[in-house]
Amino acid sequence: MTEYYRNQIPWSANYDEKKIPPYTLPDLMTCADGTPVNSKEVWMEKRRPELLRLFREYMYGEDVPMPDRVSYEIMEAGTSVFGGLGTRRQIRMTFSMNDGRSRSAMLLLYLPANASPAPVFVGLTFKGNQVVEADPAVIPSGDHEPVNKDNAPGVHAHRFPLDLILKRGYAYAICSCNDFFFDTPSGWTNSIYTLFYSEEELLARPADRSAIGAWSWGLSRMLDYLETIPEVDAGRAAVVGHSRLGKTALWTGARDSRFQVVCCNDSGCGGAALSRRLFGETLFSMVRCSTLYFWFCKKLEDFCENPETLPVDQHELHALIAPRQLTVHSATEDLWADPTGEYLAEFEAGPAFALFGETPLASSVPPPPDTPAGTNPAYYCRTGKHEILAADFQHYLDCADRFFGR
Ligand code: GCU
Repeated sequence: MTEYYRNQIPWSANYDEKKIPPYTLPDLMTCADGTPVNSKEVWMEKRRPELLRLFREYMYGEDVPMPDRVSYEIMEAGTSVFGGLGTRRQIRMTFSMNDGRSRSAMLLLYLPANASPAPVFVGLTFKGNQVVEADPAVIPSGDHEPVNKDNAPGVHAHRFPLDLILKRGYAYAICSCNDFFFDTPSGWTNSIYTLFYSEEELLARPADRSAIGAWSWGLSRMLDYLETIPEVDAGRAAVVGHSRLGKTALWTGARDSRFQVVCCNDSGCGGAALSRRLFGETLFSMVRCSTLYFWFCKKLEDFCENPETLPVDQHELHALIAPRQLTVHSATEDLWADPTGEYLAEFEAGPAFALFGETPLASSVPPPPDTPAGTNPAYYCRTGKHEILAADFQHYLDCADRFFGR
Protein backbone atom coordinates (compact mmCIF):
# COMPACT_ATOMS: atom_id res chain seq x y z
CA MET A 1 0.00 0.00 0.00
CA THR A 2 2.85 2.35 0.85
CA GLU A 3 4.18 1.91 -2.67
CA TYR A 4 0.86 3.15 -4.02
CA TYR A 5 1.55 6.53 -2.47
CA ARG A 6 5.26 6.78 -3.03
CA ASN A 7 4.96 5.82 -6.69
CA GLN A 8 2.31 8.39 -7.36
CA ILE A 9 4.14 11.65 -7.87
CA PRO A 10 2.64 13.41 -9.70
CA TRP A 11 -0.32 12.02 -7.84
CA SER A 12 -3.60 11.12 -9.53
CA ALA A 13 -6.82 10.06 -7.85
CA ASN A 14 -7.98 6.45 -7.95
CA TYR A 15 -11.64 6.06 -8.94
CA ASP A 16 -11.65 2.30 -9.38
CA GLU A 17 -13.07 0.28 -6.45
CA LYS A 18 -11.07 -2.74 -7.63
CA LYS A 19 -7.80 -0.85 -7.23
CA ILE A 20 -8.35 0.02 -3.56
CA PRO A 21 -5.67 -1.92 -1.64
CA PRO A 22 -7.01 -4.00 1.26
CA TYR A 23 -7.01 -2.23 4.62
CA THR A 24 -7.80 -3.01 8.24
CA LEU A 25 -9.49 -0.39 10.40
CA PRO A 26 -8.39 0.32 13.97
CA ASP A 27 -10.70 -1.48 16.40
CA LEU A 28 -13.28 1.02 17.58
CA MET A 29 -14.56 -1.10 20.44
CA THR A 30 -11.28 -1.98 22.20
CA CYS A 31 -9.47 0.49 24.45
CA ALA A 32 -5.74 1.10 24.04
CA ASP A 33 -5.04 -1.15 27.07
CA GLY A 34 -7.14 -3.98 25.61
CA THR A 35 -10.30 -3.36 27.66
CA PRO A 36 -13.33 -4.27 25.54
CA VAL A 37 -15.93 -1.51 25.20
CA ASN A 38 -19.02 -3.34 26.35
CA SER A 39 -20.99 -0.58 28.06
CA LYS A 40 -21.79 3.07 27.60
CA GLU A 41 -19.82 3.78 30.78
CA VAL A 42 -16.60 2.26 29.34
CA TRP A 43 -17.25 4.20 26.14
CA MET A 44 -17.86 7.56 27.82
CA GLU A 45 -15.26 7.32 30.56
CA LYS A 46 -12.41 5.54 28.79
CA ARG A 47 -12.65 4.93 25.05
CA ARG A 48 -14.19 8.23 23.98
CA PRO A 49 -11.63 10.42 25.82
CA GLU A 50 -8.71 8.39 24.45
CA LEU A 51 -10.00 8.67 20.87
CA LEU A 52 -10.63 12.39 21.26
CA ARG A 53 -7.05 12.80 22.45
CA LEU A 54 -5.75 10.91 19.41
CA PHE A 55 -7.73 13.09 16.99
CA ARG A 56 -6.33 16.19 18.69
CA GLU A 57 -2.79 14.86 18.50
CA TYR A 58 -2.78 13.42 14.98
CA MET A 59 -5.36 15.37 12.97
CA TYR A 60 -6.98 18.55 14.19
CA GLY A 61 -4.66 19.96 16.87
CA GLU A 62 -5.23 21.08 20.43
CA ASP A 63 -8.24 23.15 21.46
CA VAL A 64 -7.76 26.90 21.08
CA PRO A 65 -7.75 28.62 24.52
CA MET A 66 -10.34 31.14 25.61
CA PRO A 67 -9.46 34.84 25.34
CA ASP A 68 -9.41 37.01 28.45
CA ARG A 69 -12.67 38.71 27.46
CA VAL A 70 -15.54 38.29 25.01
CA SER A 71 -17.98 41.10 24.22
CA TYR A 72 -21.03 41.33 21.97
CA GLU A 73 -22.16 44.43 20.11
CA ILE A 74 -25.54 44.43 18.38
CA MET A 75 -25.10 45.88 14.88
CA GLU A 76 -28.64 45.15 13.64
CA ALA A 77 -31.30 44.54 16.26
CA GLY A 78 -34.02 42.78 14.31
CA THR A 79 -35.17 43.33 10.74
CA SER A 80 -38.09 41.38 9.33
CA VAL A 81 -36.89 39.19 6.44
CA PHE A 82 -38.24 36.67 3.92
CA GLY A 83 -41.76 38.10 3.87
CA GLY A 84 -42.07 37.99 7.64
CA LEU A 85 -40.85 34.38 8.09
CA GLY A 86 -38.28 35.66 10.52
CA THR A 87 -36.00 38.42 11.71
CA ARG A 88 -32.32 39.06 11.05
CA ARG A 89 -29.92 40.21 13.73
CA GLN A 90 -26.20 40.96 13.42
CA ILE A 91 -23.77 40.86 16.29
CA ARG A 92 -20.09 41.73 16.42
CA MET A 93 -18.30 39.30 18.74
CA THR A 94 -14.97 40.64 20.00
CA PHE A 95 -12.34 38.45 21.61
CA SER A 96 -9.74 40.43 23.59
CA MET A 97 -6.63 39.85 25.64
CA ASN A 98 -5.50 41.92 28.62
CA ASP A 99 -2.47 43.12 26.63
CA GLY A 100 -4.75 44.85 24.12
CA ARG A 101 -4.80 42.28 21.33
CA SER A 102 -8.24 41.59 19.91
CA ARG A 103 -10.10 39.94 17.00
CA SER A 104 -13.70 40.28 15.93
CA ALA A 105 -16.17 38.05 14.10
CA MET A 106 -19.52 39.11 12.67
CA LEU A 107 -22.42 36.83 13.55
CA LEU A 108 -25.42 36.83 11.21
CA LEU A 109 -28.47 35.38 12.96
CA TYR A 110 -31.88 34.54 11.51
CA LEU A 111 -34.66 33.91 14.02
CA PRO A 112 -37.93 32.24 12.98
CA ALA A 113 -41.23 34.08 13.53
CA ASN A 114 -43.05 30.88 14.47
CA ALA A 115 -40.89 29.48 17.30
CA SER A 116 -39.27 30.97 20.41
CA PRO A 117 -37.07 29.80 21.88
CA ALA A 118 -36.08 28.16 18.60
CA PRO A 119 -33.68 25.29 17.98
CA VAL A 120 -30.73 26.52 15.96
CA PHE A 121 -28.38 25.55 13.16
CA VAL A 122 -24.85 26.91 13.54
CA GLY A 123 -22.55 27.09 10.52
CA LEU A 124 -19.85 28.99 8.67
CA THR A 125 -19.51 30.51 5.21
CA PHE A 126 -16.47 29.96 3.01
CA LYS A 127 -16.21 33.67 2.25
CA GLY A 128 -18.04 36.51 4.03
CA ASN A 129 -21.53 36.60 5.53
CA GLN A 130 -22.67 38.67 2.56
CA VAL A 131 -22.67 35.51 0.39
CA VAL A 132 -25.78 34.35 2.28
CA GLU A 133 -28.18 37.10 1.22
CA ALA A 134 -27.97 39.82 -1.43
CA ASP A 135 -29.42 42.47 0.92
CA PRO A 136 -26.79 45.23 1.29
CA ALA A 137 -27.71 45.44 4.97
CA VAL A 138 -25.81 42.19 5.54
CA ILE A 139 -22.46 43.39 6.87
CA PRO A 140 -19.60 42.00 4.78
CA SER A 141 -17.35 39.91 7.00
CA GLY A 142 -14.28 37.79 6.54
CA ASP A 143 -13.48 41.27 5.26
CA HIS A 144 -9.89 40.56 4.41
CA GLU A 145 -10.60 40.37 0.69
CA PRO A 146 -12.12 42.92 -1.66
CA VAL A 147 -15.51 41.87 -3.04
CA ASN A 148 -15.09 39.63 -6.07
CA LYS A 149 -17.13 37.02 -7.92
CA ASP A 150 -16.58 34.40 -5.19
CA ASN A 151 -17.65 36.54 -2.26
CA ALA A 152 -20.24 38.78 -3.91
CA PRO A 153 -23.50 39.42 -2.02
CA GLY A 154 -25.89 36.49 -2.29
CA VAL A 155 -23.51 34.30 -4.32
CA HIS A 156 -24.06 31.32 -1.98
CA ALA A 157 -27.73 31.98 -1.15
CA HIS A 158 -28.57 28.50 -2.52
CA ARG A 159 -26.44 27.01 0.29
CA PHE A 160 -28.55 28.79 2.94
CA PRO A 161 -32.22 27.94 2.21
CA LEU A 162 -33.42 30.32 4.91
CA ASP A 163 -37.08 30.34 3.90
CA LEU A 164 -37.22 26.57 4.43
CA ILE A 165 -35.26 26.68 7.70
CA LEU A 166 -37.32 29.53 9.16
CA LYS A 167 -40.62 27.93 8.08
CA ARG A 168 -39.59 24.78 9.91
CA GLY A 169 -39.09 26.84 13.08
CA TYR A 170 -35.29 26.84 13.26
CA ALA A 171 -32.89 29.73 13.76
CA TYR A 172 -29.66 29.84 11.75
CA ALA A 173 -26.45 31.43 13.11
CA ILE A 174 -23.73 32.11 10.57
CA CYS A 175 -20.16 33.49 10.62
CA SER A 176 -17.38 33.59 8.06
CA CYS A 177 -14.66 30.99 8.60
CA ASN A 178 -12.22 33.71 7.54
CA ASP A 179 -12.98 35.66 10.71
CA PHE A 180 -11.39 32.82 12.70
CA PHE A 181 -8.66 31.74 10.29
CA PHE A 182 -8.26 33.27 6.86
CA ASP A 183 -8.39 30.23 4.59
CA THR A 184 -4.91 30.22 3.11
CA PRO A 185 -1.61 28.60 4.16
CA SER A 186 -0.36 31.97 5.42
CA GLY A 187 -3.61 32.56 7.35
CA TRP A 188 -1.95 31.99 10.74
CA THR A 189 -1.18 35.71 11.06
CA ASN A 190 -4.77 36.53 10.14
CA SER A 191 -6.45 34.22 12.60
CA ILE A 192 -7.68 33.87 16.13
CA TYR A 193 -4.25 32.44 16.95
CA THR A 194 -2.87 36.02 16.88
CA LEU A 195 -4.37 36.36 20.37
CA PHE A 196 -2.19 33.58 21.73
CA TYR A 197 1.08 33.59 19.72
CA SER A 198 3.67 36.11 18.57
CA GLU A 199 3.96 36.85 14.86
CA GLU A 200 7.25 34.98 14.79
CA GLU A 201 5.66 31.88 16.27
CA LEU A 202 2.80 32.10 13.80
CA LEU A 203 5.09 32.47 10.81
CA ALA A 204 6.79 29.26 11.96
CA ARG A 205 3.33 27.55 12.10
CA PRO A 206 2.48 26.19 15.57
CA ALA A 207 2.77 22.43 15.10
CA ASP A 208 -0.14 21.39 17.30
CA ARG A 209 -2.68 23.83 15.83
CA SER A 210 -4.78 23.84 12.67
CA ALA A 211 -7.17 25.94 10.61
CA ILE A 212 -9.95 23.44 11.26
CA GLY A 213 -9.22 23.86 14.99
CA ALA A 214 -9.68 27.64 14.67
CA TRP A 215 -12.90 27.32 12.64
CA SER A 216 -14.23 24.81 15.15
CA TRP A 217 -13.41 27.16 18.01
CA GLY A 218 -15.41 29.84 16.18
CA LEU A 219 -18.47 27.58 16.04
CA SER A 220 -18.20 27.02 19.79
CA ARG A 221 -17.95 30.76 20.43
CA MET A 222 -21.08 31.30 18.31
CA LEU A 223 -22.90 28.81 20.52
CA ASP A 224 -21.64 30.70 23.61
CA TYR A 225 -23.43 33.79 22.30
CA LEU A 226 -26.59 31.85 21.47
CA GLU A 227 -26.66 30.57 25.05
CA THR A 228 -27.10 34.17 26.21
CA ILE A 229 -30.27 35.07 24.28
CA PRO A 230 -33.84 34.01 25.10
CA GLU A 231 -34.99 33.64 21.47
CA VAL A 232 -32.79 30.59 20.94
CA ASP A 233 -32.87 27.23 22.71
CA ALA A 234 -29.12 26.57 22.68
CA GLY A 235 -29.76 23.17 24.25
CA ARG A 236 -31.13 22.18 20.85
CA ALA A 237 -28.24 23.25 18.62
CA ALA A 238 -27.15 21.58 15.37
CA VAL A 239 -23.76 22.20 13.79
CA VAL A 240 -23.75 22.06 9.99
CA GLY A 241 -21.00 22.37 7.40
CA HIS A 242 -20.18 21.58 3.80
CA SER A 243 -16.91 20.32 2.37
CA ARG A 244 -13.92 21.67 4.37
CA LEU A 245 -16.54 23.10 6.71
CA GLY A 246 -18.17 19.65 6.84
CA LYS A 247 -14.84 18.32 8.16
CA THR A 248 -15.01 21.20 10.66
CA ALA A 249 -18.61 20.39 11.66
CA LEU A 250 -17.73 16.77 12.39
CA TRP A 251 -14.70 17.73 14.48
CA THR A 252 -16.77 20.36 16.30
CA GLY A 253 -19.47 17.84 17.15
CA ALA A 254 -16.74 15.55 18.50
CA ARG A 255 -15.06 18.12 20.74
CA ASP A 256 -18.04 20.25 21.83
CA SER A 257 -20.83 18.00 23.02
CA ARG A 258 -23.16 20.95 23.52
CA PHE A 259 -24.02 20.42 19.84
CA GLN A 260 -26.81 17.85 19.94
CA VAL A 261 -27.03 17.32 16.17
CA VAL A 262 -24.13 17.13 13.71
CA CYS A 263 -24.76 17.57 9.95
CA CYS A 264 -21.66 16.73 7.92
CA ASN A 265 -22.06 17.49 4.22
CA ASP A 266 -19.78 16.19 1.43
CA SER A 267 -16.82 16.45 3.79
CA GLY A 268 -14.66 13.71 2.22
CA CYS A 269 -11.04 13.12 3.11
CA GLY A 270 -10.09 14.30 6.60
CA GLY A 271 -13.83 14.50 7.33
CA ALA A 272 -16.39 11.71 7.11
CA ALA A 273 -14.49 9.45 4.65
CA LEU A 274 -12.21 6.62 5.75
CA SER A 275 -8.54 7.60 5.43
CA ARG A 276 -7.41 4.04 4.70
CA ARG A 277 -9.61 3.72 1.58
CA LEU A 278 -7.61 4.98 -1.36
CA PHE A 279 -10.40 6.48 -3.44
CA GLY A 280 -10.65 10.09 -4.62
CA GLU A 281 -8.80 12.58 -2.44
CA THR A 282 -6.37 11.03 0.06
CA LEU A 283 -4.43 12.36 3.04
CA PHE A 284 -1.32 12.09 0.92
CA SER A 285 -2.70 14.26 -1.86
CA MET A 286 -4.11 16.77 0.60
CA VAL A 287 -0.97 17.10 2.68
CA ARG A 288 1.76 16.61 0.07
CA CYS A 289 0.28 17.60 -3.31
CA SER A 290 -1.90 20.58 -2.43
CA THR A 291 -1.81 23.67 -0.24
CA LEU A 292 -4.44 22.35 2.17
CA TYR A 293 -2.06 20.88 4.77
CA PHE A 294 -2.65 23.79 7.17
CA TRP A 295 -6.22 22.62 7.76
CA PHE A 296 -4.65 19.90 9.95
CA CYS A 297 -1.94 19.77 12.58
CA LYS A 298 1.62 19.09 11.52
CA LYS A 299 1.84 15.57 12.90
CA LEU A 300 -0.54 14.31 10.20
CA GLU A 301 2.25 14.89 7.69
CA ASP A 302 4.22 12.01 9.22
CA PHE A 303 1.38 9.61 8.50
CA CYS A 304 -0.08 10.75 5.21
CA GLU A 305 2.08 8.39 3.16
CA ASN A 306 1.09 5.47 5.37
CA PRO A 307 -2.44 6.07 6.65
CA GLU A 308 -2.49 2.44 7.79
CA THR A 309 -0.08 3.54 10.56
CA LEU A 310 -2.37 6.32 11.80
CA PRO A 311 -3.70 5.25 15.21
CA VAL A 312 -7.20 6.41 14.22
CA ASP A 313 -9.51 6.32 11.23
CA GLN A 314 -12.56 8.43 10.61
CA HIS A 315 -15.20 5.90 11.73
CA GLU A 316 -13.86 6.68 15.21
CA LEU A 317 -14.57 10.37 14.68
CA HIS A 318 -18.18 9.58 13.71
CA ALA A 319 -18.45 7.45 16.86
CA LEU A 320 -17.48 10.41 19.07
CA ILE A 321 -20.87 11.98 18.30
CA ALA A 322 -22.82 9.10 19.93
CA PRO A 323 -25.41 9.18 21.38
CA ARG A 324 -26.14 12.59 19.87
CA GLN A 325 -27.55 12.77 16.33
CA LEU A 326 -25.09 12.36 13.46
CA THR A 327 -26.21 12.80 9.86
CA VAL A 328 -23.75 12.41 7.00
CA HIS A 329 -24.47 13.41 3.41
CA SER A 330 -22.71 12.63 0.15
CA ALA A 331 -23.50 13.53 -3.48
CA THR A 332 -23.45 11.07 -6.36
CA GLU A 333 -21.11 13.16 -8.52
CA ASP A 334 -18.78 14.03 -5.65
CA LEU A 335 -16.41 11.09 -6.13
CA TRP A 336 -13.46 13.21 -4.97
CA ALA A 337 -15.04 13.03 -1.48
CA ASP A 338 -15.53 9.23 -1.74
CA PRO A 339 -19.25 8.80 -0.96
CA THR A 340 -18.76 5.08 -0.27
CA GLY A 341 -15.92 5.85 2.16
CA GLU A 342 -18.16 8.38 3.93
CA TYR A 343 -20.93 5.79 4.20
CA LEU A 344 -18.64 2.97 5.34
CA ALA A 345 -17.10 5.09 8.09
CA GLU A 346 -20.56 5.87 9.39
CA PHE A 347 -21.55 2.20 9.16
CA GLU A 348 -18.41 1.18 11.08
CA ALA A 349 -19.25 3.69 13.84
CA GLY A 350 -22.53 1.84 14.47
CA PRO A 351 -21.46 -0.18 17.55
CA ALA A 352 -20.79 3.03 19.54
CA PHE A 353 -24.31 4.30 18.79
CA ALA A 354 -25.83 0.89 19.53
CA LEU A 355 -24.38 1.02 23.07
CA PHE A 356 -26.90 3.78 23.76
CA GLY A 357 -29.84 2.03 22.12
CA GLU A 358 -29.62 4.11 18.93
CA THR A 359 -30.37 2.43 15.59
CA PRO A 360 -27.27 2.62 13.38
CA LEU A 361 -26.95 1.80 9.68
CA ALA A 362 -27.98 -1.78 9.09
CA SER A 363 -26.07 -2.62 5.92
CA SER A 364 -22.48 -2.22 4.74
CA VAL A 365 -23.92 -1.49 1.27
CA PRO A 366 -24.79 2.20 0.71
CA PRO A 367 -28.45 2.96 -0.04
CA PRO A 368 -29.56 4.13 -3.50
CA PRO A 369 -29.32 7.89 -4.12
CA ASP A 370 -31.97 10.18 -2.60
CA THR A 371 -33.02 7.48 -0.11
CA PRO A 372 -32.41 8.23 3.58
CA ALA A 373 -30.80 5.38 5.52
CA GLY A 374 -30.45 4.77 9.26
CA THR A 375 -31.82 6.70 12.19
CA ASN A 376 -28.81 7.57 14.29
CA PRO A 377 -26.43 7.83 12.65
CA ALA A 378 -28.33 8.67 9.47
CA TYR A 379 -27.07 8.90 5.90
CA TYR A 380 -28.27 10.40 2.63
CA CYS A 381 -26.65 10.61 -0.80
CA ARG A 382 -28.17 13.30 -2.99
CA THR A 383 -28.13 12.99 -6.76
CA GLY A 384 -25.86 15.71 -8.10
CA LYS A 385 -22.73 17.68 -7.47
CA HIS A 386 -20.54 18.66 -4.53
CA GLU A 387 -22.93 21.17 -2.93
CA ILE A 388 -25.22 21.77 0.03
CA LEU A 389 -28.74 22.44 -1.16
CA ALA A 390 -32.32 22.67 0.12
CA ALA A 391 -32.68 18.91 -0.52
CA ASP A 392 -29.87 18.32 1.97
CA PHE A 393 -31.46 20.63 4.53
CA GLN A 394 -34.84 18.85 4.21
CA HIS A 395 -33.17 15.70 5.52
CA TYR A 396 -31.06 17.51 8.12
CA LEU A 397 -34.25 19.16 9.42
CA ASP A 398 -36.06 15.80 9.48
CA CYS A 399 -33.24 14.27 11.52
CA ALA A 400 -33.14 17.25 13.90
CA ASP A 401 -36.96 17.19 14.32
CA ARG A 402 -36.88 13.48 15.16
CA PHE A 403 -33.99 13.87 17.59
CA PHE A 404 -35.53 16.91 19.30
CA GLY A 405 -38.97 15.23 19.40
CA ARG A 406 -40.61 18.00 17.38
C1 GCU B 1 -11.09 20.70 -2.11
C2 GCU B 1 -10.44 19.80 -1.10
C3 GCU B 1 -11.46 19.08 -0.24
C4 GCU B 1 -12.42 20.07 0.37
C5 GCU B 1 -13.00 20.95 -0.71
C6 GCU B 1 -13.83 22.12 -0.20
O1 GCU B 1 -11.80 19.93 -3.04
O2 GCU B 1 -9.61 18.90 -1.78
O3 GCU B 1 -10.82 18.36 0.80
O4 GCU B 1 -13.43 19.40 1.08
O5 GCU B 1 -11.96 21.58 -1.44
O6 GCU B 1 -13.78 22.48 0.95
O7 GCU B 1 -14.48 22.75 -1.04
